[in-house]
Amino acid sequence: MDYEEIMARLRQVIETEVRPIPEEILEKEREQFYKTHQKSLDIYERAKSLIPGGVEHNLSTNNPFPLAVDRVKGYKMWDVDGNEYVDYLMCGAPIILGHHFDPLDDEIIRIIKEKGPSHGLTSEYEILAAEMITKHMPAVDMVRFLQSGTEAAMAAIRIARAYTGKTKIVKIGGSYHGWSDQFVYSLHIPGTGPLNSRGIPLEFYQHLVDIPPNEFDALEKAFEENKDKGGIAAVIVEPVGGESGVHPVHPDWNRRIRELCDEYESLLIFDEVVTGFRLDIGGAQKYFNIMPDLTVLGKIIAHGYPSAGAVGGKREIMEICGKGMGERPYLGGTLAANPITCAACYHAIRLIEEHDAVTKATNYANRLVDALNDLFSTREDLPFFVYNFGPIIHYETSSFFAVDLKAPDSFAQIMRRKDIAEDYQMVAWNKGICSLAGTRMYTCMQHDDEALDRTLAAWEYILSLIPKK
Ligand SMILES: Cc1ncc(COP(=O)(O)O)c(C=O)c1O
Repeated sequence: MDYEEIMARLRQVIETEVRPIPEEILEKEREQFYKTHQKSLDIYERAKSLIPGGVEHNLSTNNPFPLAVDRVKGYKMWDVDGNEYVDYLMCGAPIILGHHFDPLDDEIIRIIKEKGPSHGLTSEYEILAAEMITKHMPAVDMVRFLQSGTEAAMAAIRIARAYTGKTKIVKIGGSYHGWSDQFVYSLHIPGTGPLNSRGIPLEFYQHLVDIPPNEFDALEKAFEENKDKGGIAAVIVEPVGGESGVHPVHPDWNRRIRELCDEYESLLIFDEVVTGFRLDIGGAQKYFNIMPDLTVLGKIIAHGYPSAGAVGGKREIMEICGKGMGERPYLGGTLAANPITCAACYHAIRLIEEHDAVTKATNYANRLVDALNDLFSTREDLPFFVYNFGPIIHYETSSFFAVDLKAPDSFAQIMRRKDIAEDYQMVAWNKGICSLAGTRMYTCMQHDDEALDRTLAAWEYILSLIPKK
């Protein structure tokens, strides 16, 4: 589905009154959920006195309470009550070979047994991992390993400022680059500014320039206006659009940013925490054939193994990290580049290439998107639709991310639309389907016909609960 159509259909969803499942039916679904998720409930009750809010995973939907997971394998997930799910959370994107993939796990277990988990110095795996990343990512000549996507994004803007001598960073509204002080701004929904900034002094945003997605004029103005106010060190983008394409990217957006960065001697940073080794084995940079100066990588480089993050880029820029005290931007991390994470990185990328995992996950995603759109089109009274960027699928039912903040009741609308998406998600759980936030699905190379049939059956059931108009 192209950009214009996605945007038109998103507008249609927003202009259509939301369609909840009637309360009496929902109540029965809730009862069913409580009955079949008693152990998850017990764990949640125990967690409440130990972990603030009883859950700390931002990826979790908690209506009526969060799932506690027992194990994962292939495309499947089992909760502690033994319920089986077709999993589309995929740990928030890093899993593309399939969960708990033996050829990868065997290597890691062997390394732990033979070598030990970490020692604080270099191992050969660090170099093998760096060779693997630079082999596939066309705009990455050198890398520095860190421990999360949040850290990698922090490092990228520090490197950009050190290299250019400029101060301002442009962030696009609605995008997510982790939770560091400077990036918790206009999260999730463009224009929300410091809504989530509790604990962050507002002065921390003085060098951040917040631009709404795909607003070419605002972007050009920002470059011009900041020329004599410290200058723009970098523009950081999620290359498929904010929150992995919830706010889809205009086909000319990335290229225009590249041109402006060149014109004003600023750096372009692609945050490829989700798109790297998923949208294409060479990331969004290869997919769109637009070369960023710096690339942010995260969880995906270790395929779900812990402590994963890296910043990479052009040699002449990255070399600044190897300079002496006073000249280099300071980066670090005791567990960064530990042998387990680096071995996971090397073997995961090797296996993604060997199994052609991106093509397989993309083919499945395309089939699922077509099948779901066919199913949704049988209900002309509902504006539901699905689109994808390769193995990153967005399904739009209530589209709370797309609510226009200028609407007088915008916040009430967002909450109501979010609740309805989560109600659909609860029913999907009852039917054995797990996705992200009730709006997103990541696919892996092992999703198959059975997964597709089960997903369609679940959505057929959800549709049957929404009265026809
Ligand atoms: C695009 C993007 N950047 C950065 C991050 C932060 O990564 P981490 O959760 O590893 O800190 C995420 C996390 O989902 C992300 O999706």
